[in-house]
Amino acid sequence: MSLPSVDIHYGDNLDVMVGMSDSSFDLIYVDPPFNTGKAQQRQSIRVVQDTEGDRVGFQDKKYRTLKLGSMSYADVFDDYLSFLEPRFLEAYRMLKPEGSFFVHIDYREVHYVKVLLDLIFGRQCFMNEIIWAYDYGARSKSKWSTKHDTILWYAKTPDRYTFNYEEVDRIPYMAPGLVGREKASRGKAPTDVWWHTIVPTNSKERTGYPTQKPFGVLKRLVLAHSKPEDRALDFFAGSGTLGDVCAYCGRHSVLIDNSKAAVSVMWKRLRKYNPSLKGIAEEDLDPVHLDTDPGEVDGDSPERHAGDQGRLF
Ligand SMILES: C[S@@+](CC[C@H](N)C(=O)[O-])C[C@H]1O[C@@H](n2cnc3c(N)ncnc32)[C@H](O)[C@@H]1O
Repeated sequence: MSLPSVDIHYGDNLDVMVGMSDSSFDLIYVDPPFNTGKAQQRQSIRVVQDTEGDRVGFQDKKYRTLKLGSMSYADVFDDYLSFLEPRFLEAYRMLKPEGSFFVHIDYREVHYVKVLLDLIFGRQCFMNEIIWAYDYGARSKSKWSTKHDTILWYAKTPDRYTFNYEEVDRIPYMAPGLVGREKASRGKAPTDVWWHTIVPTNSKERTGYPTQKPFGVLKRLVLAHSKPEDRALDFFAGSGTLGDVCAYCGRHSVLIDNSKAAVSVMWKRLRKYNPSLKGIAEEDLDPVHLDTDPGEVDGDSPERHAGDQGRLF
């Protein structure tokens, strides 16, 4: 098997993607930023006559401006979806017919994004809503604590896609005593609810990039949904978790991010795979210290990727 390639691009993902070929990726995974679309503050106003007012109008009458409320809430959503839509259309174009698209998204956005993806792919191409459940941080006393993200899976062709059931790791039975020793030691297949801790602060896989996703979650996804030497794309790549997983699993990857901090982190994180760098010169990247730096990565140890609590259930 050839050494997996890792191509890192610095730039706006839309600009980079428009130059890429149709049907060129087997798997696309993205974890977009949380609703950063700029809200257009469409403040509606009404002007009323007022002797103390700050506006002077017809016949020198004074007027005061009343602010009637802001439309910004709706606009945030509109802007977010119109930010995502052209990028998702490019993703659709670049997926191979048997390829799969995964969108990792916050519980507040997922329903809007699902409707958008149904329009782009067709509802029949929606395969699964994977829930990544974690158990970290304080509990709310006023509502159910929110401890999950959603990963939506769309297949470009719903009856022809990669799903390597045998490659999927097994998880322990909840009541192993009920199933017999052999079954209990083999474990059971996971469902669409995946339990995995967030990247722990003291773990070896932690890069320090704030929104880094766990290696273990993406490893299950990559092993199940691609084959060795397949090509994967992450166009909101952050710290480069997808690239790290792909290289570890023998898949080629292309990573795009428009943040110099992100590209600097992923360049350092992935340098052992000899990545290519486009859109910025290496000497212009920020200096980065990774939490993995002390004692540094000697080859590629599963321990580094698993972290202390990085088990999937
Ligand atoms: C939630 S983070 C991804 C984290 C990543 N999954 C990881 O494990 O580290 C989203 C990333 O999208 C990047 N981003 C936002 N808008 C972008 C754009 N228009 N083009 C490229 N990257 C963008 C941000 O810089 C950020 O690094």
